Amino acid sequence: MTSLIKGDNSKSRRNFIRMLAMSPLLPYLNLSAQMKEEVHKATIDPRFTHDTLHVEDPDGLAPGLAESMADYDAHITSASQAIIVFDLEAVARRNLNVGHLAQMLGSEDGATYMANREAFSKVQLRPRVLVDARDVDVSVTLFGKKWNTPLLVCPIGAQRAFHPDAELAVARAAKSRGHLMTLSTSSSTPIEEVNAAYGQPVWFQLYRYEDWSRTLAMIKRAESSGCKTLVWTLDALYPDKREGLARVRRDNVKLCQQCHNVPDHEGFNPKLLNNAGFEERIPRPMRTTPPVGPKEIVPGLTWDYVKRLKDSTSMKVVLKGITASEDAALALRHGADGIWVSNHGGRVVNTGRGTLECLPEISTVVGKRIPIIVDGGFRRGTDIYKALALGATAVGVGRPYLWGMAAFGQEGVEVMFDILDTELKMVMAQMGTPRIPAVTRRAIISSIRPSAT
Ligand code: FNR
Repeated sequence: MTSLIKGDNSKSRRNFIRMLAMSPLLPYLNLSAQMKEEVHKATIDPRFTHDTLHVEDPDGLAPGLAESMADYDAHITSASQAIIVFDLEAVARRNLNVGHLAQMLGSEDGATYMANREAFSKVQLRPRVLVDARDVDVSVTLFGKKWNTPLLVCPIGAQRAFHPDAELAVARAAKSRGHLMTLSTSSSTPIEEVNAAYGQPVWFQLYRYEDWSRTLAMIKRAESSGCKTLVWTLDALYPDKREGLARVRRDNVKLCQQCHNVPDHEGFNPKLLNNAGFEERIPRPMRTTPPVGPKEIVPGLTWDYVKRLKDSTSMKVVLKGITASEDAALALRHGADGIWVSNHGGRVVNTGRGTLECLPEISTVVGKRIPIIVDGGFRRGTDIYKALALGATAVGVGRPYLWGMAAFGQEGVEVMFDILDTELKMVMAQMGTPRIPAVTRRAIISSIRPSAT
């Protein structure tokens, strides 16, 4: 490591920064502000993976990124060796090709993606001592059903990009560890098969079609497969700019075309987004065309659509992508059964505001009237704890289970759950709040700025 930083050689410095960005020890390193910024850039900048790819294979056809990190010996070799979820990320980065890895990047300059993580440093814990915490219980109840943990699986599309077992690996892991699972409209596995693997119905996440009859057909199909909860995603209705992904597509045409038989990478290509060849391999995906037509189309949706959804189904309707208190109030007024505070993992609107920062204004308006779910950057038990203290009922994870799956399949997802559940229970005991209702704003000190309202 020392030899890499010595001298004023920009290539050595870049290599060093890359190595830091890959390192699961990153959170523990005492880096200068400038170094932190460079590492952040390396983490979200696809050129980081790009360069690595080109080092390995000048034709841009390398299946993985690992080899160029041969000098980096911190990778774990089995799921059980993971100590923190970032250990799984390091292996996932090695296993995934650059195109699939780039799906995890944030939009634009990644400010929101980073803000999601940075928000946790704005909340400190205020532990109480001498509380009997031998019996820690982190169970929560959502729509009358009790779950052993508030940690749930966020919807993520096209999971076959990350592992051949895709949504089935996640469903089996969620079943074995007792976690609530939400399935994306863009699932690469039919909902019926996922429910069978999960042993109960998932929550179904909706991306709508312009054509209501097709949307309704999807809703009815979810209902017939036993689903009781519909999650409508509101934060990805408009065009967005995923620079990193666009750059990877532009520069790795050959790599992508190996699996996605697409003619070019100009503009929006639904086949690429939706895993081309999908129809041949999968008999009944939820949809095979994009939800809102070409990306240029801005839908003229308003709150009436919530009523339409409510009127069309007996499922509970949860609105995902609420980050402002005014919208939380409107959601209540329009009969939403749950609110999901999310910015799509920083992949869409580049607000620069972490979801944890949005949570207090939402929970102030909603209180305990309906469940509040939050996601975005949750990587540690303390992160989950802070959200609970700020009024969340449950907390979702996205990328961490993709890392687990890409690293070690179902077992990797199980280990990701185990790490976060164990950490949460640990902090509950450390804080002297062995039950969720005891986790209140008294347990934290927050420097999150008050909301605009
Ligand atoms: C997503 N997310 C998402 N959300 C959704 O409602 N439907 C979807 O199909 C997808 N697909 C998707 C793909 C990928 C690759 C990512 C990373 C994310 C957003 C997801 O549900 C969740 O809001 C975030 O992933 C949470 O942030 P973290 O945990 O990934 O930081």
